[in-house]
Amino acid sequence: MNKALRPAVIAGNWKMNKTRPETKALLNELLPLVKDATCQVIVCPPFTCLETAVSALAGTNIKVGAQNCHWADNGAFTGEVSAGMLFEMGVSHVIIGHSERRQYFGETDETVNKRVRAALDAGLGVILCVGETLSQRECEITGDILALQTKIALMGVTGKELGRIVIAYEPVWAIGTGRTATAEQADEACGGIRGVVAGLYGDSAAGGLAIQYGGSMNAANASELLGRPHVDGGLIGGASLKPADFAAIVAAACQ
Ligand code: PGA
Repeated sequence: MNKALRPAVIAGNWKMNKTRPETKALLNELLPLVKDATCQVIVCPPFTCLETAVSALAGTNIKVGAQNCHWADNGAFTGEVSAGMLFEMGVSHVIIGHSERRQYFGETDETVNKRVRAALDAGLGVILCVGETLSQRECEITGDILALQTKIALMGVTGKELGRIVIAYEPVWAIGTGRTATAEQADEACGGIRGVVAGLYGDSAAGGLAIQYGGSMNAANASELLGRPHVDGGLIGGASLKPADFAAIVAAACQ
């Protein structure tokens, strides 16, 4: 499928930033800047600000995502939040498998898969993150790592459910470092992931899948990255906290 027929998706991963009043202020500033966006726009604040964001964005074109969820429906899992709890609150998406969760919180390909399944079962859309470390890139195993992470994360996911998944290619070495993958590197990796998905679900399903690039994407480099055939959007960290910058990236994706 031609890139022009795929929905561009720009998502802001706020990470552990912003209080509820700050969330309101940021969204008030952002809303007028992106209200006419023709691409899909999602903001992902911390758990404590999700309800604030859901009510501030009710009736707008901006959707709200969480940054993680647990795989169980409920139970003795102190400190965790289930996918069903998010869905009930009006959250529509959840980021799963972000490299910071893999690096700092013991997330594995297997737990990523369990969370993906739980999110889909609860009715959420998933932004599934995959990406290689610098040493893996230097060992020239980027394609293998991306294939492995993608295949394990999607175990048990049906072709129909794939329609609720966006994959974010986020090279670990580019996240929060100011070091961006070149547009060629991003496109090659996103194209490789699309090939893996085609092997699992067929060309047509893979052709309809939105694959984002994430890692120091900003207002200045967004157009070049988003102009590539396999890069269908962005997962934005630092720049998503600045409304004008985030809006500029949205504008670049809507061209
Ligand atoms: P960054 O973060 O844009 O600050 O590099 C991206 C991400 O971690 O999703």
